[in-house]
Amino acid sequence: MDSANIDTVRPAPEAAKTAPKADVKALVTLCDPDMVAVNALITERMQSEVAVIPALAAHLIAAGGKRLRPLLCVAAARLCGTDNTHHYNLSAAVEFIHTATLLHDDVVDSSQLRRGKVAAHLIWGAPSSVLVGDFLFARAFELMVETGSLRALDILSKASAIITQGEVLQLMKAFDLNLTQADYIEIISSKTAALFSAASESGAVAAGASEDRIQALYSYGLNLGLAFQIQDDVLDYQGSAADLGKNAGDDFAEGKSTLPLILAMRASRDTDAAFWDRTIGKREQAPGDFERAQALMASSGALDEARAVARAYAEKARAALSIFDAGPWRQALENLAVYSVDRQT
Ligand code: IPE
Ligand code: IPE
Ligand code: MG
Ligand code: MG
Repeated sequence: MDSANIDTVRPAPEAAKTAPKADVKALVTLCDPDMVAVNALITERMQSEVAVIPALAAHLIAAGGKRLRPLLCVAAARLCGTDNTHHYNLSAAVEFIHTATLLHDDVVDSSQLRRGKVAAHLIWGAPSSVLVGDFLFARAFELMVETGSLRALDILSKASAIITQGEVLQLMKAFDLNLTQADYIEIISSKTAALFSAASESGAVAAGASEDRIQALYSYGLNLGLAFQIQDDVLDYQGSAADLGKNAGDDFAEGKSTLPLILAMRASRDTDAAFWDRTIGKREQAPGDFERAQALMASSGALDEARAVARAYAEKARAALSIFDAGPWRQALENLAVYSVDRQT
């Protein structure tokens, strides 16, 4: 191939610059000055004179986590050109709400590992874990009230109720052989996407953005959250604890009707109905069943299909940003949409 031909197969420099990549580094770098303030608020507001509260909270918070939801709130405010710092409080509140739901979720799901550490309920017990979750919820509300924005308070308090509804609905639908894709989307819209959309919407509200921009960021967050949770559910069948910081297999053990399971059961209904009926329908699981479920997920194409659904939501998220001018913030959020599906961690 001569050099002229090589040039024709290279992407144009312009396209290479703007094509979204599965990368959160640019977003993290852009948000860094704001996140210093947000992290300081998080540390300050998790304190309590009751020593077990900061000890338990710090166990989870100091372990890190991706901080995606506060990053989303910061980026939304900055994309909308904010000239105030209300998004600091809202971002800290969003991370507290998230942390509270994780403390509760690990009790509900009997999960043993979170952010690469032993789950808090296995150290301090389920009662303390649940109560510290409640404490963080309450602190989140204090932070929101301080902004004086009733609209942001409205968005985030509604999201908090919706998350819990989603978790309860999921619990009610566990081990259900007949759960549909529509039921699943309803569950994850509530338990996960509601906080993603509230984070980006409230960031835009805090910036005093116009209604069409607020709506665009709401839609971006919602679709991003759906894509993110579908990939989370894929990783629960094919990820590693070393990458995830949490154990794969928890969803199968809890009979959670996630999209990979729904699609695999549909695809292997004729050949493996007895396996699904025993492990999910009758809740009788034995050693080796998870590995067989993993094999069926892969061979039936269920994981690829689930990832394709996630990719479609990520694409919708990106499309929602089209009303914003091109620039580093929009680009970073577009990259986040791609990352939400391509991530392994
Ligand atoms: C975990 O969220 C809960 C889900 C919605 C899947 P993250 O994967 O964002 O958790 P951290 O905060 O990075 O630990
Ligand atoms: C997370 O759902 C949703 C909330 C915490 C509200 P999962 O149960 O799938 O999350 P992981 O896998 O435990 O992080
Ligand atoms: Mg869980
Ligand atoms: Mg999960």
